[in-house]
Amino acid sequence: MNDPAIAAHGLRKSYGDKVVLDGVDLSVPEGTIFSLLGPNGAGKTTAVKILTTLISPDPASGAIRVGGHDLATAPQAVRAAIGVTGQFSAVDNLITGEENMLLMADLHHLSKVEGRRTAARLIERFDLVDAARRPASTYSGGMKRRLDLAMTLVGNPRVIFLDEPTTGLDPRSRHDMWVIIRELVADGATVFLTTQYLEEADELADRIAVLHDGRIAAEGTASELKRLVPGGHVRLRFTDPDAYRAAARALGRASRDDEALALRVPSDGGQRDLRAVLDLLDANAIEADELTVHTPDLDDVFFALTSPRRPLESVR
Ligand SMILES: Nc1ncnc2c1ncn2[C@@H]1O[C@H](COP(=O)(O)OP(=O)(O)OP(=O)(O)O)[C@@H](O)[C@H]1O
Ligand SMILES: [Mg+2]
Repeated sequence: MNDPAIAAHGLRKSYGDKVVLDGVDLSVPEGTIFSLLGPNGAGKTTAVKILTTLISPDPASGAIRVGGHDLATAPQAVRAAIGVTGQFSAVDNLITGEENMLLMADLHHLSKVEGRRTAARLIERFDLVDAARRPASTYSGGMKRRLDLAMTLVGNPRVIFLDEPTTGLDPRSRHDMWVIIRELVADGATVFLTTQYLEEADELADRIAVLHDGRIAAEGTASELKRLVPGGHVRLRFTDPDAYRAAARALGRASRDDEALALRVPSDGGQRDLRAVLDLLDANAIEADELTVHTPDLDDVFFALTSPRRPLESVR
């Protein structure tokens, strides 16, 4: 098997006595999408900055290899292999989109001809032809994000780091960005993506890691992670307090939300399970005002793993 595109062992980083990364292991196979999830301040950007040589890890960290090169001994080779789209835009607003692209081509030491050709190709691919000659300050958020990513691709990176590439985008622009990210991977690139959107990780990532308290709290495919939490349940809501209490008695294993007059019955969401609940209600002549079936999703995983005050059994 090939060397992973990204491999880190015992990644550590502290600022003063604040420990941000407390021994993080990562392994991302070539040609896959890896998503690092975590709440605000979890250390996602810190991890991206370390892996892209922008800041150094603590000396106690183990070896880190990116794009086949050791980060400590060959940072230049790592830089040549990667592209980074940061959480905050690298676009210069005062110049045009095209000028931004040509600046990147210069930074990558492309010849004038090669630089123009690459810029034109990417401007076309990212649907920025009409806007290319306008100052970037006139671009919408989505256009700026596309330009940012186009600039990242000028050096034809094999390993691409995207730090929250779709934050602030409308659903349409987010979807367009997903299409582009999938194309990059189809072309053989490896993508390391951080995101606040669980749905995005679910949609795109081959593997997902949840960062919490400086460590990887869980890692796996979206479906593996979903299996970790027993988030499936039937939720019954009542308007009549008597009906609510009768139902709570009949469904002994349900957890109660007395304020909302709602019961949450653990369930796999299957037909048999659902019928058992309905039969019990019928047998007791109880009618619920609302019934919803909830199957576990990445939100459940995320909240279960990252929030100590949100125990799995709690009623929503
Ligand atoms: N240069 C710095 N000096 C001191 N503390 C820092 C520095 N950079 C980051 N931190 C702290 O490290 C922690 C992790 O920050 P980081 O930016 O990596 O989080 P994040 O997961 O990217 O969050 P977000 O989702 O908000 O982007 C935060 O508590 C932050 O305040
Ligand atoms: Mg961040």
